[in-house]
Amino acid sequence: MTSPETDNTFHVGLLGYGTVGAAFAALVPEHAPRIEVLTGLRPAISGVLRRNSGSFDEILERSDLIVELIGGIEPARDYVLRAMRAGRHVVTANKQLLSQYGEELWDVARAEGVQLRFEGAVAGVVPVIRVLQESLAGARIDRVHGIVNGTTNFILTEMARTGMTFAEALAEAQRLGYAEADPSEDVDGRDAAAKMAILARLAFDTPVHLDQVRYEGIEQIQPDDLEYARDLGLGLKLIGTAERTGDALSVRVHPAFLYPGHPLASVSGPFNAVTVESEAITEITMSGPGAGGPQTASAVLGDVISAMIPPASTPPTTGVLELVQDVTSAFYLHLEVADEPGVLAQVAQLLALQGVSVKSVVQKGLGDQARLVMVAHPVLESRFGAAMEQIARLEFLRAPPRAIRVLEEEFG
Ligand SMILES: NC(=O)c1ccc[n+]([C@@H]2O[C@H](COP(=O)([O-])OP(=O)(O)OC[C@H]3O[C@@H](n4cnc5c(N)ncnc54)[C@H](OP(=O)(O)O)[C@@H]3O)[C@@H](O)[C@H]2O)c1
Repeated sequence: MTSPETDNTFHVGLLGYGTVGAAFAALVPEHAPRIEVLTGLRPAISGVLRRNSGSFDEILERSDLIVELIGGIEPARDYVLRAMRAGRHVVTANKQLLSQYGEELWDVARAEGVQLRFEGAVAGVVPVIRVLQESLAGARIDRVHGIVNGTTNFILTEMARTGMTFAEALAEAQRLGYAEADPSEDVDGRDAAAKMAILARLAFDTPVHLDQVRYEGIEQIQPDDLEYARDLGLGLKLIGTAERTGDALSVRVHPAFLYPGHPLASVSGPFNAVTVESEAITEITMSGPGAGGPQTASAVLGDVISAMIPPASTPPTTGVLELVQDVTSAFYLHLEVADEPGVLAQVAQLLALQGVSVKSVVQKGLGDQARLVMVAHPVLESRFGAAMEQIARLEFLRAPPRAIRVLEEEFG
């Protein structure tokens, strides 16, 4: 539909053209040339089904693979089953469907010898499904902890940051597009429970239905709970847990306080993260954007590419990027100097000559010496290096200057 039909076209039928579906349809032609180099096949959308347009049967007939982005149970379940029974691979991001009918769907996929892929269903673009199914297939997993709902994490982050009430933070989340008009499944924990059911199924090879997951939401959280937590140095998150308890498995979702050192404590705003614990690997934490059309669509496209052909161990190059040495960095600069007038001005002048601007300075006298500690805004490393060479030659320096790069928050 969107690219010239050639013999090596891989036809992708798209069910649903909403937030994720439309983003996916835009991504396919953009990445098609690169995918053709990688797989020998050029993906193209063969048809789109919406509520009032398109025919499922016609799309199925002319597709090699079906992408289901309708959501909910019916008709998504019926379409996915029919597609697999017709021998088509299926990619979906539908956590509701998988957490309630996963066993039925996986049975049919196995019986038909087709792939059912669903990376976008849990934690958006964070590749947790693939890691559990493939990379960690050889580890005995003891526990999975996750922040798997971006809406609630955003609300809790805002409540902690500003002292807002739950209702105020929810309204803010809706205004910014982090919460749906009807946020009930997010805030009552049911959405996170569906995702934890899927993660638990994969991590523990045990069928887990959404109904077996105990869940609590965040509607009852009061601003002073967060204030109290802050005083104690704790953070409050909606945490999903799936863990072995003896020979049993517990899967649950509830708000929980975390100590600052916990790998999930620093996950803030609409981000998601999943921590997997196992004796063999100790602990692995993955985090990233938990939702969003383009983000989820990229996880869906990754699944489509995997279904098209397993990646070669040494993939061909699809483009040549120039490798650069000189990059932009922020710096911490530490100088031991003689405590005399004009020192700071001279250092500042040498920095300014190279376009290095200083974000903060701390000066401390130590007898006849002084310590100057500065943080410089991001600048090309070559420019900073040139300034350092000149500073190193200053007569009042009592020790070689020390510089350490500072990683700045880029996604705040
Ligand atoms: N949005 C996210 O950030 C996100 C993140 C992760 C996973 N997901 C999952 O991705 C899936 C899609 O979510 P979304 O946000 O893109 O949903 P959405 O914006 O509500 O879009 C749903 C699409 O499905 C179509 N549709 C609904 N009922 C249909 C029916 N009976 N027959 C045919 N088409 C039908 C709609 O058609 P019309 O266009 O005619 O209304 C619309 O195009 C869901 O499973 C969701 O859980 C979403």
